[in-house]
Order: sequence, then C-alpha cells, then structure tokens
Amino acid sequence: MRKPMIAGNWKLHKTIGEALDLATVIKKETDTIEDIDIVIAPVFTSLAKVAEQLVGSNIGLSGQNCYPAASGAFTGEVSPALLRDAGCRYCIVGHSERRQLFGESDSFINEKVQALLAAGLGVIFCIGETLEEREDERMYEVLAAQVRDGLRDITAEQMAQVVVAYEPVWAIGTGKTATDQQAEEAHAFVRGLLRGFYTEEVADATRILYGGSVKPDNVDGLMAQMDVDGALVGGASLKAEDFLRIIRFRRSPSLED
Ligand code: PGA
Repeated sequence: MRKPMIAGNWKLHKTIGEALDLATVIKKETDTIEDIDIVIAPVFTSLAKVAEQLVGSNIGLSGQNCYPAASGAFTGEVSPALLRDAGCRYCIVGHSERRQLFGESDSFINEKVQALLAAGLGVIFCIGETLEEREDERMYEVLAAQVRDGLRDITAEQMAQVVVAYEPVWAIGTGKTATDQQAEEAHAFVRGLLRGFYTEEVADATRILYGGSVKPDNVDGLMAQMDVDGALVGGASLKAEDFLRIIRFRRSPSLED
C-alpha cells in the first residue's frame, strides 16, 4: 500500500509572517497524523523560518524550484544544497508554470531531478498535458515524453525518492478539476510508463499525486481512485481550513489493506 501524500504548493503567496501563521496551524492540527505524508512548499524567503517552526512535526518542507548547479555565478538561483540547508526535504520540479512561463524543457528539468537526488532531497516531479494536447489526442504521447526525458538516467533505486505529480494544465488554478475517471486513466497510464521504464516494483511503489483544482469537495472522489496516491494542492492549500479538510480526505474502504 502506498502512503498517501498531500502537498501544498503555496506558489508566490504569503509573507514570512503569513507563512509562519499558516504553518503553525497546520502543524498543530496534524500533530497526530502519521499515516499521511504532509508537505508544504512556501516561497524561498520563508523556508528557513518555516523550517524552525516545523521542528518536531512530521510535516515535510519543500522548495518550489531549484537550479541544478551546486554553486557559482548564477544570479538569482538557489541550489538543492541550499534548500537542504534551509530545512527542505523535498523540491517540486517541472511544475507547468515553470514549463510554460519560464520555458523549462524536459532536459533542464531532468538536470534538476538529478541534482536534487544527488543532494539527498526528495523530488516532486510534475507532468501534465495542456488542453490543446488533450483535444488533439496527444496527451499520452506528451506524458510519455515528459516521464521518459524528465526521469532520464534516474535509477530504479533513486525512484524511491521521487513522487510523480500528474497535473493537467487545464485544471490548474481554473476550478476545472479532472473527473475522477480522467484522473484515474492518466494515473494508470503513468504507472504503466513506470512499469515499462523501470520494473513492476518501482511502478507499484511510486506515488502519483493528482494536482489541478483539488478542493475539499472533490478530494474524496479523487483519492478513492486506485492509482491516485495523493494531491498537489495550489489555491486550496493557502487556507488552513481547506488544506486540513483535504488532508483528512475520506478513505475509501475498498482501498484499505
Ligand atoms: P491549483 O494548483 O490547486 O490552484 O489548481 C495546483 C498546482 O499548481 O500545483
């Protein structure tokens, strides 16, 4: 049974003070939860402070992005080692906003995945098709290329530190969630890719999160799908009440072991 993960991507929101307030509430309210991995990804400037606040909790801290070099003349960038130094356990990579707004390619994303794993960080590796790609029936081709090229040279052993997040671009920040069925179809396909690129064991063990307008009122249906192992939550992770309800998604009895 894969341990569910609920991750909050705070994007470009919240001052240090606001981030601390939200982290404090989440920490307090999730104190006793051990059977779900909870992750929050504040902006760079809040990471170190939030890390201090999370000491003694099970909540994992995540960066939202990184640069693949360890150090050097790369103005404005942050390395995996510095994320770790700030208290991060994970980093999000390949988010569609990075791909679309900042022109990140699969091969650049792959460099980041490699650098993060080498630095001992877990990776939340995002993939997903645009509406146009889905309507042109190129969705499976696009997902296959993103997985193949983004995870190039990542070993089966290293995959234990990688979580995949399937985020259809048309569902991100639009309030238009994929249906439970659409999510399951895509997740089952991605798991099949992992089976092909790696092994049955890797495919069975790798968590695949769904992202794109996950809210308190749709999380239960999504999480009831066999191949949906968690959620990467944007907008709804900014409000404690909503994020906590998502963390407390209703377990489907048929999926319990
Ligand atoms: P959303 O964002 O939940 O606001 O759609 C999800 C994401 O971008 O990870």
